[in-house]
Amino acid sequence: MGSQVSLNKNGQINIVLHERENLVLDSNEQFRNENDPFQKIDQEFSSFIGMNRLKETIKEIYANLQINERRERVGLKAQKQVLHMLFKGNPGTGKTTVARKLAEVFYDMNVLSKGHFIEAERADLVGEYIGHTAQKTKDLINKAMGGILFIDEAYSLARGGEKDFGKEAIDTLVKHMEDSHSEFILILAGYPNEMDHFLSLNPGLASRFPIVMDFDDYSVDQLLEIARQMTIDREYQLTKEAEWKLKDYLIKQKQERSNSSFANARFVRNTIEKSIRKHAVRLMKKSQYSTEELMLITRNDLTLEK
Ligand SMILES: Nc1ncnc2c1ncn2[C@@H]1O[C@H](COP(=O)(O)OP(=O)(O)O)[C@@H](O)[C@H]1O
Ligand SMILES: [Mg+2]
Repeated sequence: MGSQVSLNKNGQINIVLHERENLVLDSNEQFRNENDPFQKIDQEFSSFIGMNRLKETIKEIYANLQINERRERVGLKAQKQVLHMLFKGNPGTGKTTVARKLAEVFYDMNVLSKGHFIEAERADLVGEYIGHTAQKTKDLINKAMGGILFIDEAYSLARGGEKDFGKEAIDTLVKHMEDSHSEFILILAGYPNEMDHFLSLNPGLASRFPIVMDFDDYSVDQLLEIARQMTIDREYQLTKEAEWKLKDYLIKQKQERSNSSFANARFVRNTIEKSIRKHAVRLMKKSQYSTEELMLITRNDLTLEK
């Protein structure tokens, strides 16, 4: 479903658009399985290792939506959920990937009318002269209507203090996220410490984000499972020896590096992708190979990303 369109504005904005194929407006029909109402959510997030709290939160949002619909049908008050979110986590813990996935899932649930995903950072919001920032930020919000606006390293908006235009961007965001006509979800993301500092500088901001997600660093076992998942997705397989080598390295990396400099699952992805290239070069030297050889990444192929 859906088509991907990349818009290159300042080289920074990615827009993923969806097309509604079957216009079934009753979200019951579209999303729910009678026996297991959360089956679709479990499926959608099945390739995400861990993240149990996130999965639970999505189920709560969905259940709330469904029950609200039923309440409305019998004439009871229904409340619209505010779904703006804060994502706190070190690099490579899945913040961007999850936000992008939520745009898709919320579209399928009929929470979002368009389900597109706009990724932005400071330079996309902050302008160069008075009034410029408010305009730039408003334009971005307009583009995000019906979808998700994801602002990475959001704390950088508070970088320059009171006189900085970043403050104007924050004020503009706040104004529009409270507006009942605004139909978009704002997600601010960043390192945990920086995000906490940012929130402390802007009292009143935290309360506007009812959903706060902590993206914890992965354990070695989780990282290995992510590596397995990534190789399976690509129809490759790590030999036992390759897995041991990866495990030893992950243990060492986690001991030696500070948390914020270890790139978690991104490190694993880079390692797998490099190893796939090395595997390809190795096989190029042979004239014949079996299906198994085309899939197996050996200890020597495994190239550890620095
Ligand atoms: N729990 C997870 N399970 C599987 N893959 C993951 C998980 N978390 C992150 N990844 C993968 O790791 C890579 C980096 O994730 P990303 O969303 O870019 O992290 P962040 O935005 O927090 O820096 C992506 O390829 C993503 O698919
Ligand atoms: Mg990211």
